[in-house]
Amino acid sequence: MAHPPAAKRLVAIYPGSFDPPTNGHLDIIERGSRLAGSLTVAVLQNSQKQPLFTVPERVEMIRELTRDLPNVTVDAFSGLLVDYAAKLQADIILRGIRAISDYEIELQMALVNRRLRPQTETVFLMAGEEFSFISSRLIKEIFKLGGEISPFVPSPVARRLAAKLGSAE
Ligand code: PNS
Repeated sequence: MAHPPAAKRLVAIYPGSFDPPTNGHLDIIERGSRLAGSLTVAVLQNSQKQPLFTVPERVEMIRELTRDLPNVTVDAFSGLLVDYAAKLQADIILRGIRAISDYEIELQMALVNRRLRPQTETVFLMAGEEFSFISSRLIKEIFKLGGEISPFVPSPVARRLAAKLGSAE
């Protein structure tokens, strides 16, 4: 395979559900934005999962959180990630990996995506260890059961969660 010049500015995608975006996601976005020339945070549409936030709400939250990162844009995508990667001519797909339990599914996705589109390489970043136990799923569970979620999410997300609770009451 041909090697790109070392100074090539990488076009990166950071895909995910981001329901809701967490401090761990934000940590990966910040790390990724320092590595890549441009980074698109891509929110998956049409997920099978029953979301708490709509896709436009998630896009808006991530835009607010990344306002100060000039090379970061936020978008939504549907269909295959590799098709979206082709549209953006992305060099890399970024994924955050926490514990070893993430590895198996991430390996499977990375290998499938590489088979489907060899031009785009998956790159794993480790979030800061203080974020290693945070997941959107657990945050939603804590939130629904009335627990305190503010240590795990950026404050605009905590406010949106509180507003959701208010509107549900
Ligand atoms: O935040 P998540 O839910 O772990 O992100 C999963 C995501 C969005 C990266 C994955 O579900 C995905 O890429 N979905 C798009 C459909 C697709 O391309 N599926 C095949 C991937 S192997």
